Amino acid sequence: MSKNLLVVGLQWGDEGKGKIIDALSEQYDAIVRFQGGANAGHTVYVDNEKFVLHLIPSGILHQDKQCIIANGVVVDPECLSEEIDGLRERNHHVEGRLWISGRAHVVMPYHKMLDGLQEAELGDQQIQTTRRGIGPCYADKAARTGIRFAEFVNPDVFRDRLEEVLTLKNKIISRIYDGDPLNVDDVYERYSGYAEKLRPYVKNTVAMLQRYENEGKTLLMEGAQGTMLDINNGTYPYVTSSNVCAGGAAVGTGLPPSSVTDVMGIVKAYCSRVGGGPFPTEQDNETGEFLREQGNEYGSTTGRPRRCGWLDIVALRHTIAVNGVSGISLMLLDVLTGLKEIKICTGYKINGEQLKEFPAEVSFLGKVEPIYESFQGWQEDITGAKEFAHLPAAARDYVKAIENLIDLPVKIVSVGPGRSQVIQRVYGESGL
Ligand code: GDP
Ligand code: IMO
Ligand code: MG
Repeated sequence: MSKNLLVVGLQWGDEGKGKIIDALSEQYDAIVRFQGGANAGHTVYVDNEKFVLHLIPSGILHQDKQCIIANGVVVDPECLSEEIDGLRERNHHVEGRLWISGRAHVVMPYHKMLDGLQEAELGDQQIQTTRRGIGPCYADKAARTGIRFAEFVNPDVFRDRLEEVLTLKNKIISRIYDGDPLNVDDVYERYSGYAEKLRPYVKNTVAMLQRYENEGKTLLMEGAQGTMLDINNGTYPYVTSSNVCAGGAAVGTGLPPSSVTDVMGIVKAYCSRVGGGPFPTEQDNETGEFLREQGNEYGSTTGRPRRCGWLDIVALRHTIAVNGVSGISLMLLDVLTGLKEIKICTGYKINGEQLKEFPAEVSFLGKVEPIYESFQGWQEDITGAKEFAHLPAAARDYVKAIENLIDLPVKIVSVGPGRSQVIQRVYGESGL
């Protein structure tokens, strides 16, 4: 076990990060979210009970774990408050073990409003965001017009900051987008209620995490989204607004990069994408439909049908390199059961030429032609498999082919949504 493990999505999100975080949480002292916001939807099943977490780390369902929303996250107080209440109703209490960084930025109602107005303006070029106010909140952070949690929960400061910022936002809303301005008193009244409620959870988590490091406590760092949605290394501009990749864990927690001692990549056995933007291996056909229905590929946050397609090794090699991944968890392998033939994209061609590198330009990526290798499918139900050797030969061959193509071990194979439906691979075991 690595001291501090970072779990990061290597595709376009929804790879099954929540499930793996939940499954690994037992082994760590604290679980830390470091970027993104309520655009994330992490699904965890415990004894057939379904939980969808948007802001609270997916380790929260382990009663004795500390869970931290660190400074790189943008936190919607309304959503967080609902999430806390929802957990409490189901007998999961978060008091004394959930902490929000005072440096985390607050997602305000004008961020959500501007998210919608900006999207409407883009017409058919829409990013198709989750409309959770993520882009506008990170934009304010960079423009130094954001409100941080430490200010939000300080009544002496919040009202003044809100007036200052909302005056500016209302000009943008009404003069640029022709929208209805927000009333400062209404927003203050509603949001000071959330501030009151969330104040006990706010802490200097940078100091807290540094203390944990000094005490030798172990951290599980929970990435949201996927690296193809990373603001720097993804399919820009069809990305989210945060640093999804491993580098983001350092800035987003306030710990040095050396504190990330291992990086595990989470990969779906195929690909999905929700929202706009290029997706070279997309199967807008019966195969895509099959994957969507078998994999229940509907957004955990927005309910939108996810676009589905074959596993893309070119994209994967790029995201593995960007993150310094040491091994992967291969998720949703059971979804492929029943297919006669399974394809993997091993290269991209454009104008008859094979590309050597993952392209930076999005219009280019939209035009590439995938080169596929075919693999035999399997028909047996694999959802009860506990060991790699129990999988059908074709499924084992598929996993081994992926390992060869990415030159990394598949350390965990997931064969169903349940906490125990994981095969931890032991190298050297016969058949591996
Ligand atoms: P995340 O955003 O990366 O945490 O992923 P989501 O929770 O949004 O989406 C993954 C979906 O796949 C959820 O509905 C999970 O319950 C489900 N899931 C995770 N692992 C498996 C698996 O191995 N097999 C199947 N069938 N479903 C899985
Ligand atoms: P998890 O953590 C899948 C996508 C949106 C949109 C783009 C920008 O569950 O894997 P945003 O609202 O962030 O400005 O939207 O990013 N997106 C996700 N897709 N899983 C997610 O999170 C996502 N978070 C954002 O659909 O295309
Ligand atoms: Mg998700």
